[in-house]
Amino acid sequence: MTRLAGKTALITGAARGIGLAFARAYVAEGARVAIADIDIHRARASAADIGPAAVAVEMDATRQDSIESAVDASVQALGGIDILVNNAALFTAAPITEITRDDFTRVFDLNVAGTLFTMQAVARHMIDRGRGGKIINMASQAGRRGEPLVAVYCASKAAVISLTQSAGLNLIEHGINVNAIAPGVVDGEHWDGVDAFFARYEGKAPGRKKAEVGAAVPFGRMGRAEDLTGMAIFLATKEADYIVAQTYNVDGGNWMS
Ligand SMILES: NC(=O)c1ccc[n+]([C@@H]2O[C@H](COP(=O)([O-])OP(=O)(O)OC[C@H]3O[C@@H](n4cnc5c(N)ncnc54)[C@H](O)[C@@H]3O)[C@@H](O)[C@H]2O)c1
Repeated sequence: MTRLAGKTALITGAARGIGLAFARAYVAEGARVAIADIDIHRARASAADIGPAAVAVEMDATRQDSIESAVDASVQALGGIDILVNNAALFTAAPITEITRDDFTRVFDLNVAGTLFTMQAVARHMIDRGRGGKIINMASQAGRRGEPLVAVYCASKAAVISLTQSAGLNLIEHGINVNAIAPGVVDGEHWDGVDAFFARYEGKAPGRKKAEVGAAVPFGRMGRAEDLTGMAIFLATKEADYIVAQTYNVDGGNWMS
């Protein structure tokens, strides 16, 4: 299919997981993509696996100089950026009494400041170019409500929903649509890490939390990265031009809003 023919996309944290599935889906729709990641070796391997429509770009989204050089490198490689997916994020969990300031800063530097300042750098490029664009931020069901052991990550994703609203309202005058996707529980390396946190704090055997959350999804199973690609493609197309500042749940029915 060619719903994104001629379009270019920068996807952060796309060396693996959901970002990589989006890169594959965008290329299958005719786009060219920059796979930006702090793990440049894996980003290169993923880009090579996709083929000539993908390029790997080194990016640490917690550092302003790295954000700017990654955006510049993507513009050079692709000839401009039509679509940004702010996907890179970190998870953390701890009871309130054990949260450390270092962990809070690490997570907010990437999930919140990384999202904001990558959005800013790409929006400046899109405005200069004068062709509008699409920005998709990765939120989470965790941003819809708190969880007893997940205060920092939940708050960071609530901030992503809020940033999406403000940026969406601010940038639509330039023809830039900012929206977000809120996944539920998506199997992969990210959730292997989440499962390990719960094994530690709830005394569950490895894999137990995953099995429980999967069984609790109304659809009947955990999500797969590919379950999210339809929304990621749609929000990047012209059909989504009238959609502004929204966050869409793609979570098998976990959350309704
Ligand atoms: N997997 C889920 O269940 C789930 C649920 C809700 C929301 N999400 C969100 O979806 C997005 C993708 O999740 P995923 O499961 O694919 O995660 P993942 O952990 O598998 O992938 C994250 C990627 O980000 C990269 N990264 C880490 N730090 C970085 C930095 N400083 N700069 C640039 N890149 C960096 C990693 O190298 C990795 O490739 C995230 O925003 C996540 O919060 C995931």
